[in-house]
Amino acid sequence: MIRLLTIIGARPQIIKAAALSRTIRQSFSNEIKEIIVHTGQHYDYNMSEVFIKELDIPQPDYNLQLGSGRHGSQTASMISGIEELLIKEQPDWCVMYGDTNSTLAAAIAAAKIHIPIIHIEAGLRSFDKTMSEELNRIACDHFSTLLFAPTHTAINNLQNEGFKLNTKAPYTINNPCIFHSGDIMYDNTLFFLDIAKKNSKIIENLELINTPYCLCTIHRDHNTDNINNLKSIFKTLLEVSKEISMTFVLPIHPRTKNTIKQYFTEKEYESLMNDKYLKIIDPVSFLDMSTLESQAEIIITDSGGVQKEAYFFKKPCVILRNTTEWVEILEQKAGVLVGANSEKIRNGILHFIGNKDIEYPEIFGNGTTAQYICNTIVQLHEKKEKSD
Ligand code: UD1
Ligand code: UDP
Repeated sequence: MIRLLTIIGARPQIIKAAALSRTIRQSFSNEIKEIIVHTGQHYDYNMSEVFIKELDIPQPDYNLQLGSGRHGSQTASMISGIEELLIKEQPDWCVMYGDTNSTLAAAIAAAKIHIPIIHIEAGLRSFDKTMSEELNRIACDHFSTLLFAPTHTAINNLQNEGFKLNTKAPYTINNPCIFHSGDIMYDNTLFFLDIAKKNSKIIENLELINTPYCLCTIHRDHNTDNINNLKSIFKTLLEVSKEISMTFVLPIHPRTKNTIKQYFTEKEYESLMNDKYLKIIDPVSFLDMSTLESQAEIIITDSGGVQKEAYFFKKPCVILRNTTEWVEILEQKAGVLVGANSEKIRNGILHFIGNKDIEYPEIFGNGTTAQYICNTIVQLHEKKEKSD
């Protein structure tokens, strides 16, 4: 039996882990045993548990419950907690997703005690090292043994950093292997499409039946921790939604809500929360989010995952950032980078509303990434057993 120890922590990782975990249980339960460790980086019910329940992920075997904190102290306590569990469980592989502090902590903990790393969503780069996610993903990739890259661009990025294609097994941290796997988030979008259609009542609950709307999310530190940026974004959303008389739905990340509470005057806060067109709601479940994405006119976001899901649902995306790792979306002209600049945000929204001329070829794989990853792991073990 191959033992994988999977690290989750932040919302998008819990969602991504659902795909691999489901595939292991459905098709590889005789070959792979998964141990799930939740760092507790996200802990509100609607940032964590709702996904475990709704996406049918087994309850984590361990929850370190480490919560929020400054980068250094949060990452340090995660390294310590994960290291202890890795020593206790002695997995064959430590699996990690994306680029959060939970990912970095897992990479440091595992690499230092020689437990090989599988990095899912490897090779992504924004080329902006002021983003903590960029630091996390560079470190994690360079500590990994198996790197599952979702796109051709991600493969090229890794090659440009010295990774070689077509290396020969046995793979190690010194002889890593990169695979073009497609994007694991697409597996979930396809798998939960009909389930969401059947079960989500979000459109009814928000009284949006037959009502066009835009969907927004904001949580990047470049936007939330820079009060001028945050005010510029909200002011523009308020103005444009009014100008075009269209509802904008914004499920708000707790980080963003906290900043607004802290830095907006009471009057600004009240008028924001009770606006006629900008509907700010609590974070929603994955089925509700997929439903909102699938029926939106356009999507306005600084999220990595939501940019991709916009593309999966063939929705244009106004990206509230100055860089993106998902450059294919820009190349297809299905997205535009606008940062926090009011004029660019407004122009982006007006450009995309009603624009039906965009094409969305399959650039993120075909929704079988988890199957590909499990097959690869099993085949490597069979090869290794034969050669031992
Ligand atoms: C983290 C990731 C980011 C990812 C995002 C997904 C890092 C450095 N950043 O950002 O890459 O895109 O998750 O959502 O790992 N909070 C709550 N309740 C929660 C979680 C967070 O109130 O359940 C608040 C706390 O005030 C906390 C703040 O949000 O300090 C930020 O949380 P944190 O996990 O540090 O970073 P995110 O902005 O969520
Ligand atoms: N998401 C969700 N509910 C929300 C907002 C986002 O289920 O209220 C999902 C979204 O569909 C996507 C993932 O969370 O699958 C993206 O996570 P997030 O935006 O927090 O992080 P990022 O992808 O930027 O790291």
